[in-house]
Amino acid sequence: MSNQSGIGVAFIGSGSAAPEAVLSNEGVSRVVETSDEWIASRTGIRQRHLASPTESLKQFAAQAAQNALDMAGITAAEVDLIILATSTADDLFGSASQIQAAIGANRAVAFDLTAACSGFVFGMVTAAQYIRTGAYQNVLLIGADVLSRWVDWNDRRTCVLFGDGAGAVVMQASTAGDRLLGFELRSDGCMNDCLTLAHEAQPRELVDGIAIGRGGYQFIQMNGQEVYRFAVRKVPEVIEKALFRANLTVEQIDWLLLHQANQRILDAVAQRLTLSGEKVISNMARYGNTSAASIPIALDEAVRAGNVKLGDVIASAGFGAGLTWGAAIFQWGK
Ligand code: UT7
Repeated sequence: MSNQSGIGVAFIGSGSAAPEAVLSNEGVSRVVETSDEWIASRTGIRQRHLASPTESLKQFAAQAAQNALDMAGITAAEVDLIILATSTADDLFGSASQIQAAIGANRAVAFDLTAACSGFVFGMVTAAQYIRTGAYQNVLLIGADVLSRWVDWNDRRTCVLFGDGAGAVVMQASTAGDRLLGFELRSDGCMNDCLTLAHEAQPRELVDGIAIGRGGYQFIQMNGQEVYRFAVRKVPEVIEKALFRANLTVEQIDWLLLHQANQRILDAVAQRLTLSGEKVISNMARYGNTSAASIPIALDEAVRAGNVKLGDVIASAGFGAGLTWGAAIFQWGK
C-alpha cells in the first residue's frame, strides 16, 4: 500500500513480559466450581499469569517495551511516541507517561488508548497514521492489561478466562515501502452491554440541588455466548476487508494472529477463511486472555521462536468490549 507522503511503516522489534506467578486450571478449580477439563475443552486455556498485589501494569509494560527496543536496536531516547493500549491502567489518568519515565524515553510523547481487546490493532493503525504523515519516526506501541484486578473471582463464567501481561512492538518510518498493508476497524456501541467493566455511582449531594456521583468500577460482566457469536461472525469479515484493501488473497497470509480469547474462536475463524491450522498462532494455553496484550505477546513469542520471519504476511485481528473489532494485515520486518 502506498501513501502520498511516500513514508511507510516498518515493524522492527517486539518484546513481551508477564508476571511470574502462574495459576493452573486446577488452581482455579480451588477458587470456583470448575475443572481443567471444562476450561481446556471450552477455551483451550491451561494456565494464566497473574500479577501480585505489589506488581504493576507499568512494570510489565516497561519490560516488554525495553525488550522490543533491544530487538529493534534503538534506544529509548530515540522514541518519538509511546502508545499504551490498555483498559487497566495503574492510574485512570493514564499509565503511558509512567512507562515513558520508567524506560527513559525522554523525548517521547505518551498517551493511553482504550479499545479493550482490540486495543493493540487500533493502536497499530493509530501509530501508522503518525508515521505516514511524517510526524514521528519511531513509535513504541504497547498492549498491556492486568484484568485480574477487575475479574469477579466468584464468577466462574469469566474468572477462568483472563490473565495478565504485556507485549510491545517498535514501528519505524521507512522509505523502502509500507509494511502495514491494509486495515479495517469497527465499533458497535449498540452491543456495549455484552461486555462491560462499568462505573457505578451513588448520588452524593454536595449542596442544595447539586449532587455528584461517588462510586467505583464494578467487575467484568460478559455475555459469553453473544460475544462468541459476534467474534466468529465479524472477525472473518474485517480480515477479508483488510485483505481487499491490501490487494491480497487469503492464500497469501503466512500467519493468522487473532486476539487470544478462545481456541474455538481461532479455529472457527481459520475455518471460515479456509486457512490451515498450521498458520494459526496460538499461545492462550499458557496465558489465557490477556486483552490488549494477547496479540503482541503471541507475536513476540512467534518472532523469537523463529516462526515469524522477515517478510511474512500476518493477518491480525482484535475483538472485544465496546464492542470493537478490527483487522490489520502487516508484514514483519524493515
Ligand atoms: O476478550 C474479549 C472477548 N471475549 C470472548 O471472545 C469470549 C467469547 N465467549 C467464549 O469464549 C465462551 O462463550 C465462554 C468460554 C465464555 C463460555 O463457553 P460456552 O461454551 O459459551 O459456555 P456457556 O456459557 O454456554 O455455558 C455452558 C455451561 C453452563 O451450564 P448449563 O447452564 O448448560 O448447565 C454454564 O453454567 O457451562 C457452565 N459453565 C461452567 N462450567 C464449569 C460456565 N462456566 C463454567 C466453568 N466451569 N468455568
